[in-house]
Amino acid sequence: MATQPVSDALVFFGATGDLAFKQIFPSLQRLAKRGKLKGPVIGVAKSDWTLDDLKKRAKDSVEQHGGLDPEGFEKLIARLCYVDGDYADISTFQQVRKELGAAQHPIHYLAIPPSLFGMVLEQLKQSGCADGARVVIEKPFGHDLESAIELNQIVHQTFDEKDVFRIDHYLGKNAVQNLIFFRFNNSFLEPIWNRQYVESVQITMAESFGVQGRGHFYDATGAIRDVVQNHLMQLLSNIAMEPPIGSWAEALRDERTKVLRGVQCLEPSEVVRGQFEGYRNEPGVNPDSTVETYAALKICINSWRWKDVPIYIRAGKSLPVTATEVVARLRRHPDIFSRDPLPSNYVRFRVSPEMTIGLGAHVRLPGEITRGTPVEMMATQQAKAEDILPYEELLADAIIGNQARFARADYVEEAWRILDPLLKNMPPVQMYKPGTWGPPAAEKMAAPDGGWLDPKV
Ligand code: BG6
Repeated sequence: MATQPVSDALVFFGATGDLAFKQIFPSLQRLAKRGKLKGPVIGVAKSDWTLDDLKKRAKDSVEQHGGLDPEGFEKLIARLCYVDGDYADISTFQQVRKELGAAQHPIHYLAIPPSLFGMVLEQLKQSGCADGARVVIEKPFGHDLESAIELNQIVHQTFDEKDVFRIDHYLGKNAVQNLIFFRFNNSFLEPIWNRQYVESVQITMAESFGVQGRGHFYDATGAIRDVVQNHLMQLLSNIAMEPPIGSWAEALRDERTKVLRGVQCLEPSEVVRGQFEGYRNEPGVNPDSTVETYAALKICINSWRWKDVPIYIRAGKSLPVTATEVVARLRRHPDIFSRDPLPSNYVRFRVSPEMTIGLGAHVRLPGEITRGTPVEMMATQQAKAEDILPYEELLADAIIGNQARFARADYVEEAWRILDPLLKNMPPVQMYKPGTWGPPAAEKMAAPDGGWLDPKV
């Protein structure tokens, strides 16, 4: 593998926006402290702001999200520049080019609405800012298969695939990386991680909150596009992939893409869409909205390892808890000792809010009669303040040109390919009460395979 140059400038479009405030500044402060930033850090937006306004915003951002670290913050501020201008105007990009100075390999991070991607990419090319550069693109990458293919074509008119970093912050979570590490760094799991031993798999992303003031964005997106197409497909491809032949980017990305290629298209009858009561009263939401805040789907992977193993995926807002988990239920052993069958053994990976691995087992209860009880053997790792933030981790990778944790063009197209027939023929939404596990139809859907295993917090 050719060594990639280290980026010597970072430009972020959308510098005055929400994502910059919540995620980018706190990550940049930490990258600055760790000496990972080289050259200027240039914020770009159209807000009639000055550099001082942006510095103030950066300060508020870090204070509200993780805390101000005097050393890291000073180092960041010393590099910070600001270009205020319209993305339709080439002079904005000429100004960026000027601020880049002698930088040869800048990163351009598009933390902007997807409708602006095409224009900004074209302007980067016209102004010379794209020469020798990389681009980091925020989700959602397209809104269906056709638009994702089109966006890939637009991106490739300006950047080679080796310089494109499609971000999914789930890949920056240690607990998500651990799915692969745990599978392929322990000798006991892989022998049973297949259709001979695994009866079904469930992936749950539950959030106990609603749309948190993002009604306008969410109502144009819905749960399937917001989190299933990206975060949950990443979980799926990490838990279902074959052993990669190494840890370099293409070895991992080939295997993730192969998993998605094996996923058959979804039947609308294997999908439940729900909406929590009260969603239509949220600011920015259409009062007649039929957008889903909950989705449950059943899929199968057509592979030697997973054929006929049902995989249930669900995501929802206003559910009883906030937790993301993958649970594999194992096939039943013969019941020799007990007449009252105990629940199946299982392997549980929690990826959020903390990292947990649980093995569902049975132990004997004391007493004359042989009876058992279910127990869970558990390994837990709490996130610590010094842990690396997902965006910090991903930006650090982009700076050194490591694409292992970014979605490749064919991968995103596969993820949309799976969902495309559903998006074109959506079943109606069914209402559910906030604080419940979604519409009753979703319960019925998973019932033939033992029902959902709800995360407990
Ligand atoms: C974002 C979605 O990508 O991920 C949000 O747009 C969702 O709707 C969020 O709440 C969840 O991320 P995390 O890291 O808090 O699990």
